[in-house]
Amino acid sequence: MNFQNQVVVVTGSSSGIGAETARCLRSQGAKVIGIDRHPPALTLDAFVQADLSEVATIDAAVAQLPVRIDHLCNVAGVPGTADGATVARVNYLGLRHLTQRVLGRMPAGGSVVNVASILGHEWPQRAAMHKALAACESFDAGLAWLAQNPVAHDTCYQYFKEALIVWSTLQSQRWFLDRGIRMNCVAPGPVMTPILGDFAAMLGAERVQRDAHRIKRPALADEVAPVIAFLCSDAARWVSGATVPVDGGMASTYL
Ligand SMILES: NC(=O)c1ccc[n+]([C@@H]2O[C@H](COP(=O)([O-])OP(=O)(O)OC[C@H]3O[C@@H](n4cnc5c(N)ncnc54)[C@H](O)[C@@H]3O)[C@@H](O)[C@H]2O)c1
Repeated sequence: MNFQNQVVVVTGSSSGIGAETARCLRSQGAKVIGIDRHPPALTLDAFVQADLSEVATIDAAVAQLPVRIDHLCNVAGVPGTADGATVARVNYLGLRHLTQRVLGRMPAGGSVVNVASILGHEWPQRAAMHKALAACESFDAGLAWLAQNPVAHDTCYQYFKEALIVWSTLQSQRWFLDRGIRMNCVAPGPVMTPILGDFAAMLGAERVQRDAHRIKRPALADEVAPVIAFLCSDAARWVSGATVPVDGGMASTYL
């Protein structure tokens, strides 16, 4: 993969999968601009400290980005142990808002990669709801829809990862046909990052026990990052609207 002369914005770049994605892309020549609420722990080409749960702070962050952005990797996210409003804002509404704002700075050939989750795999069961939410294009319209259609806290993480997969899938072809910009998701299974323990707490001991035999081990962040980089790369120029599992085969056991 060759990202020479390409600018990539990576959210969640201060930890876990986002940090590893930034490192991976830089090693292939990309100029990486990180966005995170916490300061970075690795060398980046530029960094914008921002809270991605608010329209105003997202807009202020975008104002600091260059006029041309080749790729956007939306990695920042919170687990379901956070409060429901934060999960909705960071994992879905804020991600959409940032993407909509960055889109205008992307040339043809650009791409967006969204980090979803294996926990979003049941989206077909709620496809109509997710399509209705996707149709509320602005952050505030999404908030208003959610006020009318509240999401249970104990499954809100799964709900908004499902919603992200549906929004990405629906949106992708319009942008590809009109602008030549691709959008894809990766859906990791468990990954060894600081929030892995939160996922175990969120799912409960029984579910974790039930799933334990399905995989050899949790992934390392550097087993997810190259797939994100691949989806940004020219090698994936005919891949759009896809959700790629990066889960050591875990999803295959749900059949
Ligand atoms: N770790 C896993 O097992 C796993 C599995 C599937 C999907 N994911 C997804 O992968 C993505 C990355 O998670 P990770 O495991 O690397 O976790 P992590 O906690 O190591 O990294 C998440 C990053 O997002 C940032 N972030 C969170 N809220 C933010 C906000 N409001 N504004 C700006 N930055 C914010 C954090 O500061 C952190 O640097 C998330 O979207 C997560 O849902 C993780």
